[in-house]
Amino acid sequence: MNRRDAIRQGTTALAALLTARTASAELLQQAATHDWSTLAADYRLGDSVNYLNHASIGTMPRQLAGLRDELLRVCESNPWLYMWGGAWEEPREDARRAAAGLLGAKPDDVAITHNTTEGFNLLAQGLPLGAGDEVLFSSMNHAGASVCWEQQAPRRGFTVRRFEFPVLDAAKLTAADVADIYLSQVRDATRVLVCPHVDNIVGLRYPLREIAERAHASGVEFVAVDGAQTAGMIPIDIEASGVDFYSTSGHKWIQAPKGTGLMYLRATSREDLEPMWTTWGQGRWADLARRYEDYGTRNLAEAVVLGAAVDFQVALTSRAERRLRLLREYTQAAVGASASLEWCSPQSWADGASLYAIRAPRLVAGDASRSLYEDHGVVLRPFGGDLNTLRLSPNVITSTDQIDTFIRQVEAL
Ligand SMILES: Cc1ncc(COP(=O)(O)O)c(C=O)c1O
Repeated sequence: MNRRDAIRQGTTALAALLTARTASAELLQQAATHDWSTLAADYRLGDSVNYLNHASIGTMPRQLAGLRDELLRVCESNPWLYMWGGAWEEPREDARRAAAGLLGAKPDDVAITHNTTEGFNLLAQGLPLGAGDEVLFSSMNHAGASVCWEQQAPRRGFTVRRFEFPVLDAAKLTAADVADIYLSQVRDATRVLVCPHVDNIVGLRYPLREIAERAHASGVEFVAVDGAQTAGMIPIDIEASGVDFYSTSGHKWIQAPKGTGLMYLRATSREDLEPMWTTWGQGRWADLARRYEDYGTRNLAEAVVLGAAVDFQVALTSRAERRLRLLREYTQAAVGASASLEWCSPQSWADGASLYAIRAPRLVAGDASRSLYEDHGVVLRPFGGDLNTLRLSPNVITSTDQIDTFIRQVEAL
């Protein structure tokens, strides 16, 4: 094939891609106006599974999975063209723009990563920290936002301070309490404060704006937020929150392909941040967050589908929030009415999320989770130790019948 043919083929394929993406977005928008059980039929979850674990890993509707399959097929027809020849350059930027809209950020401040952990590694490796500097987080931090700092600290001479968060009191805590707890830990040496937007254990929703304002006023330079449990679940306005960094995964609540993520870096935060990896030509993106994602060949099909998944989330937005809130309140009432179950998460939707912890005091959470899975196909996340909880994280396609069934089954254990 000569170059002219290749370009022509690329143009045709690009047009096909854009049509496919639009068709998919139309389908998804249509789905958003249907009832939830109709939408649920668009997913590929197994019939024998009661999937209450979207916080660990989400699932894609068939339209998005189909788009991904189609793009991968097109890619194999001329890999050079799609990976290197620029045919998917504009769709990638389109995906970035869509993602920026979802996050409440400018496209220039958003990098397309693989997951939340990658974003935190980029930050921990690139920030100029040294002796006398402290990175602060609590026991609520997920390993994906913690280990990168702990591993770097001894090599570079900065310290990491991890304080115990009163997680056993979560059912009594409000967002304002959370801000007070974090701010009471800030010291003169604290240069970086790391916190989740919604933690993955009890689903407390952190008041980012208050935390960022108070932390900056206390001399903290970087407020870095783990958004793994928020993007696609609750509305986000990163710019307005005033945080400096935000990292999230596409494969949880955005329902994007596995191994896709997003990282927000405020322009001023990028001034001193060295990229974790370097390659030729990176200078092209010197002023953009894109600089941090440019390290050789990427699976651009996945990035393009991430954009379509974001479109889907945007189409669902306010309805999805109402739905998740309803499911939460439904579960909370069922737990309240049960003699053998306790609610261990914040009381209100405003302080919480679609991720909540339930305790059956006479059961060991790990054992209960195993039995529920083996006997009834219930997928959830247990937490052991003093917490001893079962974490539920339903998404919009979860039905109240599934919640009822779960409650009956756990009560019967
Ligand atoms: C709060 C939180 N942060 C980070 C992660 C890590 O996500 P990933 O594996 O996509 O990097 C998770 C995964 O469950 C999480 O719940």
